[in-house]
Amino acid sequence: MPRRDFSHSVVILIVTVTLVASLSALAWVVPNMFNVSIRQLESSRPPLAALELAGRDIYILEGCNTCHTQMIRHDAREIARYGGPSLPEHDVYEFPHLWGSKRTGPDLFRVGEKYSNQWHALHLKNPRQVVPESTMPSYPWLFTNRLDGEDVPAKMRVLRSLGIPYTDTDIDTARLAVRGKTEAEALIAYLQQLGLNRPAALSMETGVDSDTAESL
Ligand code: HEC
Repeated sequence: MPRRDFSHSVVILIVTVTLVASLSALAWVVPNMFNVSIRQLESSRPPLAALELAGRDIYILEGCNTCHTQMIRHDAREIARYGGPSLPEHDVYEFPHLWGSKRTGPDLFRVGEKYSNQWHALHLKNPRQVVPESTMPSYPWLFTNRLDGEDVPAKMRVLRSLGIPYTDTDIDTARLAVRGKTEAEALIAYLQQLGLNRPAALSMETGVDSDTAESL
């Protein structure tokens, strides 16, 4: 006779899974909802400008997040290469988050201002032109496709309803800020701000100081 355990009852299985998932939510999500430092940062950090927001959508549309993470783990080698680990306050405006789960290419959490706009343009057009051994695909159409910006104000309104502090002026001027720009211009604007609000200072929480990190 087969052994009878909880896997024979769908009801018990559903109840158990719900219970375990609720416990994780209690332990991880609820404390962050009341975390004062996150709330403070939320009010001090400007949200993405209209063009950057349009660029973020292209990042998602082109699947950049399938090869690139935006998430520094609490690991000394990783911190040595990319700077301090990702913290909850870095992601308060991220809907959806773009942490990614696979690194075919390097992490882009702090790639902003690492290269010039021109470097990014050459790289997106043909990565092999600037990094001969690159396996990244080319994205030449980004330079001919132009944006009309029609959907940006509506997106901003949705994001505002989720807590991102866009002002009426941000929303009213969004369409004109994006209209006529190429997809590449928007994407590069998005890439160039990555990390500017994510200070590289090593966090005390990691227990790794900068000397240790550099020697790794
Ligand atoms: C098939 C995987 C793949 C995809 C998809 C991909 N990349 Fe890459 N990317 C790479 C690899 C590999 C590298 C490292 C070699 C190089 O610099 O070209 C890289 C490097 C980069 C770098 C330089 C990072 C650094 O710190 O030097 C940037 C910026 C970048 N990619 C942006 C993008 C963007 C934006 C997209 C989407 C339009 C994208 N990538 C899509 C694989 C990918």
